[in-house]
Amino acid sequence: MKKVRLRLSSSYDVHIGPGMLTQTGHWLMESGLSDRAVIITNPIVKELYGEALEQNLAREGFEAVTLQVPDGEEQKSLDTATSLYHELSKCYAERTTPIIALGGGVIGDLAGFVAATYLRGVPLVQIPTTLLAQVDSSIGGKVAVNHDQLKNKIGAFYQPKLVISDISTLKTLPDKEFANGLAEVIKSAVVWDREFFTYLEMNLDSLKALSDRELEEAVFRSVKIKAEVVEKDEKDLGLRSILNYGHTIGHAIETAADFGIGHGEAIAIGMIAAARISNRMGILDIKELNRLTDFIRRADLMIETPRLALERIIQAVRHDKKVMAGKIRFVLPKAIGDVFITDKVEPSLMEQVLVGFNEES
Ligand SMILES: NC(=O)c1ccc[n+]([C@@H]2O[C@H](COP(=O)([O-])OP(=O)(O)OC[C@H]3O[C@@H](n4cnc5c(N)ncnc54)[C@H](O)[C@@H]3O)[C@@H](O)[C@H]2O)c1
Ligand SMILES: [Zn+2]
Repeated sequence: MKKVRLRLSSSYDVHIGPGMLTQTGHWLMESGLSDRAVIITNPIVKELYGEALEQNLAREGFEAVTLQVPDGEEQKSLDTATSLYHELSKCYAERTTPIIALGGGVIGDLAGFVAATYLRGVPLVQIPTTLLAQVDSSIGGKVAVNHDQLKNKIGAFYQPKLVISDISTLKTLPDKEFANGLAEVIKSAVVWDREFFTYLEMNLDSLKALSDRELEEAVFRSVKIKAEVVEKDEKDLGLRSILNYGHTIGHAIETAADFGIGHGEAIAIGMIAAARISNRMGILDIKELNRLTDFIRRADLMIETPRLALERIIQAVRHDKKVMAGKIRFVLPKAIGDVFITDKVEPSLMEQVLVGFNEES
């Protein structure tokens, strides 16, 4: 078992290890939370882990109520939040009653938003059950719902009291969800920690085989990286945007593919495209570019090139550019483990590197 402490406006611990879910009551009490709790989850996660959590809380003397929302990104909405406020009133949740978000990033963002706003804020506990949520969305306090077709349009910075990352829950994840998280793990290494990248290269097979040791280590190191970055820029005013590495083109690919492509696959292409841009600008060494590309290929994150609708991707980036008053910010690697932010990437260069994908066989 491992622990990362986040030192922020309100500090908290992230507990990482196998079987952590069934120690939740203990960790809650250690954080000064007691008596009652409301679990927010979805039917898929409830079926897998709801009972184990409820039993643990009952054994530790908690009175817990479980509220469910349907599965899916569309539940990150003000409508769903409103129905949760009703449910919370009905079960007499008070200012001191913690909300436990049990699920992936969708549940974490939604339940976090509800916790931030209900009664001007009730204690939030994150129990992330996807790799993406464990290494990314449960850390750093961004909570939000979507609005007007825009992702995360309405939200807050609201830090949890505690994060419990039970790596055993990752064993039931569908492959494509694992791939989404793995892409974020690779992203963390490339932006911040060259040694971690080497570790991933050496341990990829065990990681993909879901070995406890490697999973725990990969989640721990990714959380540590996010913690270090967020500690330096809690409110996302500068440094924190390096965590968007691969996401400028990645988001455009997701839009162009009408979300028919996994987030991990899209940002994998985005990471390679950004690395190629940096190489063409004379910054990233070709050896580094090849090393990164080879690893992403080995991690099974490369999608088949014919699925990339180049024109639509370029249109989508241009659209983002309009939205952002003509400037597109890219996070580009100088080397594996070191990145910089620039808004000086020529659109023609971006097009060239994307054309490159379609020319590859
Ligand atoms: N707050 C942040 O800083 C931040 C950062 C990155 C992403 N996000 C948000 O995270 C969301 C994506 O999160 P996600 O990738 O976890 O998706 P998700 O929450 O939709 O989960 C993916 C799928 O896996 C299922 N699932 C969850 N845990 C499982 C388990 N242990 N076994 C089997 N199935 C399980 C879910 O029910 C769902 O069907 C997006 O809404 C994104 O905007 C937020
Ligand atoms: Zn992402």
